[in-house]
Amino acid sequence: MFNKFIELVKSLYPGMDPIPLHAPVFMGKEKEYLNECIDSTYVSYVGKYVTKFEEMTAEYVGAKYAIAMVNGTAALQIALQIAGVQSYDEVITQPLTFVATANAIAHTAAMPVFIDVDLDTMGMSPDKLADWLKSNTKFSKNLDCINKITNKRISAIVPMHTFGHPCRIDEIIDIGSKYNIPVIEDSAESLGSFYKGKHTGTFGLAGILSYNGNKTITTGGGGMIITNDEDFAKKAKHITTTGKIPHKWDYVHDVIAYNYRLTNINAAIGVAQMELFDKYLINKRETSNIYRNFFKDSEINYFNEPLNSSSNYWLNAIILKGKEEKDAFLTYTHDNNIMTRPIWRLMSKLGMYNLCQTSNLDNANWLEERVVNIPSSYRIKS
Ligand SMILES: Cc1ncc(COP(=O)(O)O)c(C=O)c1O
Repeated sequence: MFNKFIELVKSLYPGMDPIPLHAPVFMGKEKEYLNECIDSTYVSYVGKYVTKFEEMTAEYVGAKYAIAMVNGTAALQIALQIAGVQSYDEVITQPLTFVATANAIAHTAAMPVFIDVDLDTMGMSPDKLADWLKSNTKFSKNLDCINKITNKRISAIVPMHTFGHPCRIDEIIDIGSKYNIPVIEDSAESLGSFYKGKHTGTFGLAGILSYNGNKTITTGGGGMIITNDEDFAKKAKHITTTGKIPHKWDYVHDVIAYNYRLTNINAAIGVAQMELFDKYLINKRETSNIYRNFFKDSEINYFNEPLNSSSNYWLNAIILKGKEEKDAFLTYTHDNNIMTRPIWRLMSKLGMYNLCQTSNLDNANWLEERVVNIPSSYRIKS
């Protein structure tokens, strides 16, 4: 079985050795736009490609505003700050995520609380969230949601759409509003993924995207906040542009702020990538069909897009029988120069976060033992 898998992957990515998990492709006008940036000398964060990239993204995801940033981690930190997260608050997220989710929370000087995921989405479980909030929180006089054990304010919920598969985000939003907690979606992995016909990242107060080199499309490094809230968008732009009050020559700043905007150079690559995004998505969906078909009659389960969803299938995932099989699969594929990767170690097990409060994490633990990502790059010779 494992050797048949090697043959399949080699046929999907002929001529590649090793075969990476997810390599970027530059098949559009990237070089042309980069040259234009250099010729124009607009290489920094002011420039037409930044604006164009933001407009294209807002239009694609169906959000009123998109604000480009240096990376997804910074975008998430800023989104949390604007949502009102303050030092010593608590922010609810899932333990099964890339470390950047927890780090962005920590960068605001808040503490994460980890709530279990659903087995069929790998994203935050609304049922476990509701149960945990019900038994662990109370309202303060001004109706903030307070953790009964730590007495800290819970000021945001950050669900994540794992590997591009949407979680049950509408239910999470409903629960958040019941407890007066805003939802910021970590949609870093899910550009091109829709839930009930609506783009991920546009359900909550704001969402964030990542354009890291391993994502479906890349700007080298980059991120985006997407939101329908005008005030939120204005604050995001202001605080990531050193808090400078717009003026022709005066340098006056009215807030402690950041230099977090995306450069025109990075945005130029992003515009070229967005122009071919639909093509990339179709190709990725075809790859997912090939894998699904391959694993259909085997003991290994292929992870399908959840109900009511259209996933970008950023990273294809399979579920092995247990830890032993998982380790054997990883060893065999790596020995054959095929890059596969186990799902992340749970955040609640990392030294920085192992004292954080958690719900029961049965599902996250189960998935952590079994899930592996398999090569998912755009297939050039398809
Ligand atoms: C779930 C998740 N959140 C946040 C990030 C952070 O994005 P970036 O690498 O652009 O900082 C990533 C990706 O890298 C991610 O996968």
